[in-house]
Amino acid sequence: MTLTRNRPFIYRITMAPETLADFDNHIVRRLSSMQGQYHDQEAYAAMLAREDTLLYEVYEIVRPEVPGEMMTGLSIVHPGRVGDEYFMTKGHFHAVPDTAEIYYCMRGQGYMLMETPDGDWDIQDLLPGNVLYIPPYWAHRSINTGTTDLVTYFAYPAHAGHDYGTIEQYGYRKLVLERDGQPVVVDNPRWLPPDQR
Ligand code: F6R
Ligand code: ZN
Repeated sequence: MTLTRNRPFIYRITMAPETLADFDNHIVRRLSSMQGQYHDQEAYAAMLAREDTLLYEVYEIVRPEVPGEMMTGLSIVHPGRVGDEYFMTKGHFHAVPDTAEIYYCMRGQGYMLMETPDGDWDIQDLLPGNVLYIPPYWAHRSINTGTTDLVTYFAYPAHAGHDYGTIEQYGYRKLVLERDGQPVVVDNPRWLPPDQR
């Protein structure tokens, strides 16, 4: 990339709706990019036949992908469900696995679902004001369980990269589903312990 910002700089998050005034990259993920990720495949197919719904968006301030630089931006997961499963990000490990990430929740209500390559898992609230520290090695997926956008600001080492493959194949160990209007965490039947893959 052409480095136009090689001095200290400020950028603004504009509010209501949140966006970056001066982003370099806008990633848009629709239902069609989540093939095989929602547990109710019938609900997924029926919804996709109606419309390729917009699920989430990312606004990035792009930096050179080298150690020492940071990638920052906004992640916005829209509200909704595929069957009983809430809209969520694909989720990933970092390609350079020993890289952490910080998320600051600005608006909305949801969870970050996380797991390690050896099958340990965790879930933490994404609520306005919460800062989540995701240590190295933990895969992460944001899930919007609310009725408004789930807006988070993120920062991570710019050389971290993304590994989507493992999650695409097995999903996460847990699913977050709606039961009687409330989110519940259940086992993912598609998941396999790492030593059985
Ligand atoms: C970067 C990061 C976030 C996500 C974004 C979309 O390492 O964790 O910027 O990339 O929330 O999620 P994915 O990348 O899983 O589609
Ligand atoms: Zn990440």
